[in-house]
Amino acid sequence: MLDRRELLLGAAACLAAGPAATAETARPTSRRPGFGAALTLWDLQADPRLGEAISKYCTQVVPVLEMKWPMLRPGPDKFTFERADAILDFARQNDLTMRGHTLAWYHDIPDWTKAIQEKKAAEEAYVDHISTVVSYYKDKLTSWDVVNEPIPDKPRSITDRRDCYWSQMLGERWIPLAFRTAAAADPTVKLGINEYDIESAKDSFVAKRAAFRNLIQDLLDQGVPLHMVGLQSHLHAELEIDKDGLAAFVAELRSWGLEVIITELDVDDQKLSGDLAQRDAIVAQRVNDLFTAVTASGPLNSVLTWGISDRYSWINGTFARPDKQPNRPLPLDGSFQPKPFMDVITKFTKTA
Ligand code: G3I
Repeated sequence: MLDRRELLLGAAACLAAGPAATAETARPTSRRPGFGAALTLWDLQADPRLGEAISKYCTQVVPVLEMKWPMLRPGPDKFTFERADAILDFARQNDLTMRGHTLAWYHDIPDWTKAIQEKKAAEEAYVDHISTVVSYYKDKLTSWDVVNEPIPDKPRSITDRRDCYWSQMLGERWIPLAFRTAAAADPTVKLGINEYDIESAKDSFVAKRAAFRNLIQDLLDQGVPLHMVGLQSHLHAELEIDKDGLAAFVAELRSWGLEVIITELDVDDQKLSGDLAQRDAIVAQRVNDLFTAVTASGPLNSVLTWGISDRYSWINGTFARPDKQPNRPLPLDGSFQPKPFMDVITKFTKTA
């Protein structure tokens, strides 16, 4: 259930936003995904500028937290959809589509789930969760990040997969089983697999990309219902984009019939020196290089940033700058003013 703070904030936000489109009746907008942003319900309700900016610049949204296990499933017999539904209502009120994030991940597994040590019971909890959640959001979302971050950092080989509670309980089946369960619950929603640190030229990123490619090929060979690949694109400003390697990878995925989207774009500028204009220019250049690589083999139909304003970004807490200056990882600054980053997004996503 929503806590008291969320109920009060939510009521104020709904009054400001006008009549809610009930989750059951309104269908997703017909607009193609285009540019979108991630957000939390807390931030949306606390700061009207966030909703205004997303409504102004975006055609889609994705919840940062509200569709992950901890928020959706506080207990084995308890599903709480209210928070994700509140974001879905906001999306519908603003003619935005919404995508789901995420069903199967090594991170954010509630303690009650990890306490299940009997493999059959763990599989039942896993299948029940995915089936219940995807069924509930049937016909309401454009796509799902079904499996998130299946490749370990610095993989030992191209067949290396992330070791996690789900792999320990279910073996490597945890990955195809998630897709098959989601497809059975909603045969029309697009099902994706999502990974980070595969965009730059650093050796470990190239190795991770090779292992990710191997996994995708293996899933397709098994006939797994996989439709799209998400490049999270949490870029590091000090690292060049591997334009040729990434362009070749994206072209090959598309040749396999897969859609390629950018799902969590931001640029960690922790290691950049110089004035704000110089930092913003380097950030925008990394984004431009990323988009150039991805669009070498086809249009960029769907790109989401992980937040839209520097004021609300996980980067501030995770990659704090040594000079203690605020990070500038997103298209809008802390006062919701556009930066060169936003110009690059507009350049690559303007409606044809
Ligand atoms: O804000 C509450 C605070 O009130 C409470 O006291 C505290 C208790 O733990 O929790 C706080 O919520 C935190 C939440 O972020 C909001 O800041 C959660 O602890 C914390 O786990 C959560 O982290 C999120 C993380 O995913 C795990 O879900 C980050 O915000 C979010 O940016 C990050 O996003 C991930 C993508 O899902 C997958 N790709 C990488 C990306 C960045 O790590």
